[in-house]
Amino acid sequence: MVSFTAILAAALALVPSALTAPSDYDSAHKSLDTRQNAPWQYWTEGSGQFSCQQQGAKYSCSWNGKAGGGLVAGSGWRAGAKTVKYQGTYDAKGPGYLSLYGWTRNPLIEYYIIEGWDVLAPGEPWTLRGNYTSEGSSYAFYTAQRVNKPSIEGTRTFTQYFSVRSEAEKKLGAVSGTINTADHFNFWSSKGYRLGNFEQNMFMVTEAFANGTKLPSGTSTITVS
Ligand SMILES: *[C@@H]1O[C@H](CO)[C@@H](O)[C@H](O)[C@H]1NC(C)=O
Ligand SMILES: *[C@@H]1O[C@H](CO)[C@@H](O)[C@H](O)[C@H]1NC(C)=O
Repeated sequence: MVSFTAILAAALALVPSALTAPSDYDSAHKSLDTRQNAPWQYWTEGSGQFSCQQQGAKYSCSWNGKAGGGLVAGSGWRAGAKTVKYQGTYDAKGPGYLSLYGWTRNPLIEYYIIEGWDVLAPGEPWTLRGNYTSEGSSYAFYTAQRVNKPSIEGTRTFTQYFSVRSEAEKKLGAVSGTINTADHFNFWSSKGYRLGNFEQNMFMVTEAFANGTKLPSGTSTITVS
């Protein structure tokens, strides 16, 4: 008789793992540029079990990262002023976010509008630049500097913009929301943090990463419109 464990092991063996993925951002910077132009991205690093699929306007992910393991996956559209509605489930444990994410050039900026998270674990210190509301929700705007890190232009030094919902309004579990990107971009600009040229897509992503002994796991199913 085939045990349940054996069936589970066989099923897990079919799950795409990180073995074929680039081992770090640096070796992947060309694909980082390429994937920002696609309507769907799914990228993993390090070890763990990762599985994501996109079907029309919906994508689903499950992840269980080991040390150094993480993923970025989500649906993308032409970047700029847009009202993005999302709904679904985001059941995350450990470091990572459910966010709208993108890049600009001139200046080179990586930007995030973070809607949900379990553990926020920034790679670099965040500096608070201001608080505002959009679509009835409160956000805090932070910036961070990345020095000689992977970017859409290869290894570069650049600024990251992070708008983060207030702790009381963060999305976890059953989630839905509306992101009016122009509100966020305008607030950043009013504080002296403008974006550059939108040459690529922006994405509604599930991002998860390991931070020391804090490992990421969870599932998400997100429909965007
Ligand atoms: C992990 O978290 C610590 C703070 O707990 C932080 O100093 C460090 O930069 C983080 N690393 C990453 C890769 O997020
Ligand atoms: C801005 O938001 C941050 C994070 O939610 C909070 O700690 C801070 O108190 C807020 N500041 C103001 C002036 O509301």
